Amino acid sequence: MNIVLMGLPGAGKGTQAEKIVNKYEIPHISTGDMFRAAISQGTELGLKAKSYMDQGALVPDEVTIGIVRERLAQKDCDKGFLLDGFPRTVPQAEALENLLEELGKKIDHVINIQVEKDELVKRLSGRRICKTCGASYHVIFNPPKEEGKCDKDGGELYTRADDNPETVANRLEVNMKQAQPLLDFYEKKGLLTNINGQQDIEKVFADIDALLLQGS
Ligand code: AP5
Ligand code: ZN
Repeated sequence: MNIVLMGLPGAGKGTQAEKIVNKYEIPHISTGDMFRAAISQGTELGLKAKSYMDQGALVPDEVTIGIVRERLAQKDCDKGFLLDGFPRTVPQAEALENLLEELGKKIDHVINIQVEKDELVKRLSGRRICKTCGASYHVIFNPPKEEGKCDKDGGELYTRADDNPETVANRLEVNMKQAQPLLDFYEKKGLLTNINGQQDIEKVFADIDALLLQGS
């Protein structure tokens, strides 16, 4: 199954992606995670991406499309894939169409997780990430069993560099501007399903899973 997961920053893409890929055993392709990995490894890609991410701006399309192109061509994507946070602009969506056509693949579902802006701000300000496995927690909404430690591996929890209030405000603005044309793009193709993201994490997943089970 080939899935695109959309939603504004903090909507719960990463949280739901983890559950989807565990159940459906497909690779999780998060452009944000790929950029963060490149930054921590100090690669050329990381250097390029960092200046944009620090400001809450989008990394240029040609850079982002390039890394997705390489990743989707890998063998493990033959059993399906979950794209998380890509595409984020109409040119990215068009590039993805062309790329999938070249690879003889198509998108089965575009899932858009909908959450109000005020709630997004609360979620991003309380988010904590595991240094070891990347799992996402929230100090109030989804706290770890032991403060500051990941439930799965005891990894140390940290606050993401772009979760400070100024960067969050810009991320939301930039992403809100891009979102509607992209949603229209997929709506026209009959691929889009909106999911209410303002419910319990488990309930959001149940709604997504019901959709995926229908289609499989
Ligand atoms: P990326 O890493 O994709 O970040 P984002 O889109 O800003 O989204 P987040 O990861 O912040 O949020 P999420 O939706 O995954 O929410 P989460 O599950 O963590 O991108 C980062 C940057 O990289 C971009 O700003 C850009 O610069 C660059 N980039 C990436 N892709 C790009 C592209 N395609 N083009 C150009 N540039 C690109 O949840 C958030 C919090 O809420 C957590 O604390 C979680 O525990 C909590 N939570 C989750 N669900 C619920 C719930 N149902 N109820 C209560 N709390 C919840
Ligand atoms: Zn962990």
